[in-house]
Amino acid sequence: MTVSGQAETMTVIPLVDLRAAHAEVAAEIQAGFDEVMGSAAFVKGEVAAAFEREYAAFTRVAHCVGVANGTDALELALRAAEVPAGAEVIMPANTFVATAEAVVRAGARPAFADVDPDYLLLDPGSLQAALNQQTGAVIPVHLFGQMAPMTAVADVTARHGTVIIEDAAQAHGATQGGRPAGSFGLLAGVSFYPGKNLGAYGDAGAVLTGSAEHARRVRLLGDHGSERRYEHLTIGFNSRLDALQAVVLRAKLRGLAAGNQARRQAAGRYAELLADVPEVILPRTAPGNEHVWHLYPVRVPCRDEVLRCLHEEGIGAGIHYPVPVHLQPAFRHLGHGPGDFPVAEAVARQLLSLPLYPQITREQQVRVADAVRRALT
Ligand SMILES: Cc1ncc(COP(=O)(O)O)c(C=O)c1O
Repeated sequence: MTVSGQAETMTVIPLVDLRAAHAEVAAEIQAGFDEVMGSAAFVKGEVAAAFEREYAAFTRVAHCVGVANGTDALELALRAAEVPAGAEVIMPANTFVATAEAVVRAGARPAFADVDPDYLLLDPGSLQAALNQQTGAVIPVHLFGQMAPMTAVADVTARHGTVIIEDAAQAHGATQGGRPAGSFGLLAGVSFYPGKNLGAYGDAGAVLTGSAEHARRVRLLGDHGSERRYEHLTIGFNSRLDALQAVVLRAKLRGLAAGNQARRQAAGRYAELLADVPEVILPRTAPGNEHVWHLYPVRVPCRDEVLRCLHEEGIGAGIHYPVPVHLQPAFRHLGHGPGDFPVAEAVARQLLSLPLYPQITREQQVRVADAVRRALT
C-alpha cells in the first residue's frame, strides 16, 4: 500500500499488519476452512473444542470456553461469578470502553480507579480507595500487553473478599512472576478481535477459569441457557465460538509465542532508536512482568500534532485511548468529571501508539523513529 506524499510516493507502515500475519498461516487456514466446509459444522464443534483445550493449556488454566467476542466474555464471566445486580465493579479509568460496557450489561455499575504513572496499570492505592460495601468485583486490565499488579490487587481486595475477573483482552501470553495472564482471577475474559496478538478473522473471545462450575455456567449462559438440546435451564445468550474462527485461532496459536518474542525484540529496537529523543517517554515493563507488546504506546507532548505528522508520512500510528472511560458521554450518568482520575486523564492526552507487529522490520522502525524525531522538532 502506498500514499502520495509531497515529494514522493511512500509505502505505508500500518499500525498492525494483518496481511503479513495471514501470509504465515494462509495454507493451514485454507485447509482447515475446507474441512469445516466439508463437515458443515459451523458453530462450536470439534475444532472449537480443540482450540479451547489448546488455549487452556497455553494459559495453564483448567478451562477455556469459547464465546463470540471479548465483551461477551467479560459479561459472561461477571454473570457466572454472580456479581449482584447494582453492585460496583472497579476497573481502571484507562481501558477500552468494552470493560465498562460488559459491567453495565451484566447489571452491575462501573466504578473507576486511577492508573499508576509509570506503567499505566491499575493503581492499587486508588483501587483501595474505591473499594466499599457496594463493591462486587474488580477487573484489573492487562493493558497494552502487560499484566496489572496482581499480587497488590489480591492483597488489597483480600480483606473485602472481592471477586477478581481479569480483562486479558490485550495480554495473550503475558506473564507475571512466570504465571500467565488469565490464571490469577476467578475468571478472565479474552478477546480475539483481529488486531489482537492472537486474532481471529472476525469477532471471537473466550472465558478462562480454574473452576469447573464457573466454566459450566459460562457455557450454559452462552448457549441459550442450554446443556441439552431444547432444554433451557436459564435465560441465556447466543455467544459461541464459530468453527471457522477456531481454525484461524488454532493455526495462529502455534505461532503466538514466537510472535510475542518478535514483538519484544521490536519493542527493544524502538527503545534504542528513540533513546535520544528527550521529549518521548518510552513505555516501561513493570518488574516481574513478561510483556507481549500488544501496543507500543509512547507519551509525547503535542500528541495530536505528532500524530498528524506521522500520518502525513504514511505511518499508521494510533491513540489508545483518547478519552478515559469515566469521561465518555455513555457513562455521564455515573457523575464523573475532569480531575477525578488525573493520571488516566493526563496520559490520554499524551499517548501515541507506534506501529508494532511481529513482522515489522528494523528499516520500518527506523523510518517511524525518524518521523517521530522530525515531528517533535
Ligand atoms: C481491554 C479490552 N477489553 C475488552 C475488549 C473487548 O473485546 P471485543 O472487541 O472482542 O469485544 C477489548 C478489545 O477490543 C479490549 O482491548
